[in-house]
Amino acid sequence: MTLAGKVAVVTGASRGLGRAIAAALAGAGADVALAARSKADLEETARQVQAAGRRALVVRTDVASYAEVETLMGRTIHELGRLDIVVNNSGVAKVAPLVEMTADDWRFMVDVNLTGVFNGCRAAAPHLMAQRSGKIVNVASVLGQVGLPGYTVYAATKGGVIALTRALGVEWARHGIQVNAIAPGWFATPMTETAFADPRINERLTRDIPMRRIGRPEEIGPLAVFLASAASDFMTGQTIFLDGGHSAG
Ligand SMILES: NC(=O)c1ccc[n+]([C@@H]2O[C@H](COP(=O)([O-])OP(=O)(O)OC[C@H]3O[C@@H](n4cnc5c(N)ncnc54)[C@H](OP(=O)(O)O)[C@@H]3O)[C@@H](O)[C@H]2O)c1
Repeated sequence: MTLAGKVAVVTGASRGLGRAIAAALAGAGADVALAARSKADLEETARQVQAAGRRALVVRTDVASYAEVETLMGRTIHELGRLDIVVNNSGVAKVAPLVEMTADDWRFMVDVNLTGVFNGCRAAAPHLMAQRSGKIVNVASVLGQVGLPGYTVYAATKGGVIALTRALGVEWARHGIQVNAIAPGWFATPMTETAFADPRINERLTRDIPMRRIGRPEEIGPLAVFLASAASDFMTGQTIFLDGGHSAG
């Protein structure tokens, strides 16, 4: 499962799961381009990549902008020398009943969670196709498969990521590019800390998880490394649920 000599792009690398994935890929030997909007936080992730002995490139990027994602891929190839792995991890969640969501709320979540994944795949496509190899790892969610009140718009974007992953895995099989996704269950990150700090919400959400605990960010790293490495070369179009049994319950 070594990634020695490989170059990865990780979006949403400024904190949470993206930071943990970037650190794990670097630990397995990859140089990593780190994308998100908060430069200072990306620089902290860059220090973690460098502590693993790998090169880091910070590229301030809004994944909802195709032009910015194209620049991200171009700078990665130019400054780190190649591009092998794209982890489309950036995501946002606004939680409210559908009846209270506005059209702008819908667009905000679709633009980042779904268009952001399209942009990452599309902008990397010419390069990965030309070299006839590549690994796309999309980050979906258990809520792309399991309903939860307040998360309908978010769920729709994540269901879209699961469908995009399946279809693109089939479409790009002939190009030697594997496209898979991780569907995390509940993990302790800045996205979820307010909810889990409330004992009532914590109890309600933990009840859905057979293991009765939430995930630690470092628990996503090994799966990301597997999906980014040659160890998963025969797997494509799949979404792996990493959720303490949530989706199986
Ligand atoms: N934590 C969970 O329980 C959980 C469960 C299932 C799925 N997920 C998914 O896992 C992924 C990571 O979530 P997390 O928990 O680590 O969340 P987080 O702590 O809120 O981090 C989200 C990341 O996405 C980036 N991001 C947001 N909007 C962006 C934009 N327009 N352009 C570029 N980057 C953007 C953020 O960076 P900036 O703000 O600096 O741009 C940040 O790095 C998301 O796709 C999320 O939906 C999380």
